[in-house]
Amino acid sequence: MAEEAILGFLQNNDEISDSGQFAAEHNLNHDEVKNVIKSLQGFRYIEAKELKRETLVLTDEGKKYAEEGSPEFHFFLAIPEEGSISKEDLEKNLDASVFKIGSTQAAKKKWVAMGKQVSRKVQHVEDKVKESLLQIQQGLELDKENLTSLKTRKLIVTQGWTGYSDVKKGPNYAPKRKIFATDLTRENLQNWKELEFKEYNFNAMGQPLDAGHLHPILKVRKQFKDIFCQMGFEEMPTNNFVESSFWNFDALFQPQQHPARDSHDTFFLKAPSTTRKLPEDYVERVKQVHESGGYGSRGYNYEWKREEANKNLLRTHTTAVSSRMLYALAKGPFTPKKYFSIDRVFRNEAVDRTHLAEFHQIEGLICDRGLTLGDLIGVLKEFFKRLGMSELRFKPAYNPYTEPSMEIFSYHEGLKKWVEIGNSGMFRPEMLQPMGLPEDVRVIAWGLSLERPTMILYGIDNIRDLFGHKVDLDLIKRNPICRIGIESA
Ligand code: PHE
Repeated sequence: MAEEAILGFLQNNDEISDSGQFAAEHNLNHDEVKNVIKSLQGFRYIEAKELKRETLVLTDEGKKYAEEGSPEFHFFLAIPEEGSISKEDLEKNLDASVFKIGSTQAAKKKWVAMGKQVSRKVQHVEDKVKESLLQIQQGLELDKENLTSLKTRKLIVTQGWTGYSDVKKGPNYAPKRKIFATDLTRENLQNWKELEFKEYNFNAMGQPLDAGHLHPILKVRKQFKDIFCQMGFEEMPTNNFVESSFWNFDALFQPQQHPARDSHDTFFLKAPSTTRKLPEDYVERVKQVHESGGYGSRGYNYEWKREEANKNLLRTHTTAVSSRMLYALAKGPFTPKKYFSIDRVFRNEAVDRTHLAEFHQIEGLICDRGLTLGDLIGVLKEFFKRLGMSELRFKPAYNPYTEPSMEIFSYHEGLKKWVEIGNSGMFRPEMLQPMGLPEDVRVIAWGLSLERPTMILYGIDNIRDLFGHKVDLDLIKRNPICRIGIESA
């Protein structure tokens, strides 16, 4: 419609001087006219200049006055020509807003004398406001004083308007638009003589690809998994978020009074609140070692309670899985093993920039005869070197299930300081012997969070941007698919 009108008009006329006017005269929608001009201009059928104007439009209140007259005018009319009327009566006779606005404006214009009684000061008034508003509606000019007063009364507002001027024939002008072939299809190539092909626009931006994005945690997890696999580790099955206190704590020689076993630190399950099955003979040996020791240990000397061990919880560390795996391993003839896992753990913690109530833990362990602390240090050095962390330091630490225990620190080039990256140790005989592992079997193990190295590697300083319900989706889309040189991060 608009396209035919514009091309047809230019066949017999030199130019369209104002697209707005043209639209009005031809009964067309101006937005449509603008779109057509833009597109015809792109194909150089026509030339056009952009036109920007400020126009005045009436607000809802302005429209009302243009139709019905201004409140001051109505206020004036409500006062008798001779004598006066009481303010109360006026208020009764008039609309609330007409009374309120009308009285102020009429007094300001010195049309009326206000007091307890209200009377006219002049014989005759003209509703200038209504007149001016009607003029604006018709697109007529108005003097400045009038304009400002209507603006301050918020009866009119300025609105930006865009259109086109100087719309003329272009080099490719034709009264009807040719349809260009845009694609190199088989049919188009067969009919190439009859067709005209659209020119290529080499500057056009391609469509952004609507592809999925890997989360940084997934990418770093893959990296850790690859390192473990290259070093000959097998993955442990971690598909149980719900665990019993027994495997999460008791089997690990963690006493039942330990603060970590408090509901302030651990999420306990309401339903099902307890586990149904535990290996009874092993439970008995665990109870023994807690209460009175054995295997060269004095134990903790307290009364071990089965109810505590039965309580279900969301596992607080993947070491719960390690304890299940080692128990299973102890059942058969002994074979050395290298195990790893990377999965989710849960802690009842206050959430802040560096802590979440659920996160991922990376865990590695080696189980063999005669392992020493030297083996642990050597394996850790090799493991972290493959991540690009070649400078490590160890600090003595405490875990209920390891002795000795070591915190692992790495020198962070970016932060120029030593940062704690993990925890490690040799599992205690009080943990391994009740399982039934041979006496000379030692287990070296370590654990770390997946989020921490991910944040360091991807330069993220708020863990909530990375994981959880406030995750920054943009950050996930933007971050690189791979990083070349882990050290440079
Ligand atoms: N379970 C420990 C933690 O949650 C990590 C760890 C694993 C420590 C294995 C020593 C040995 O921090």
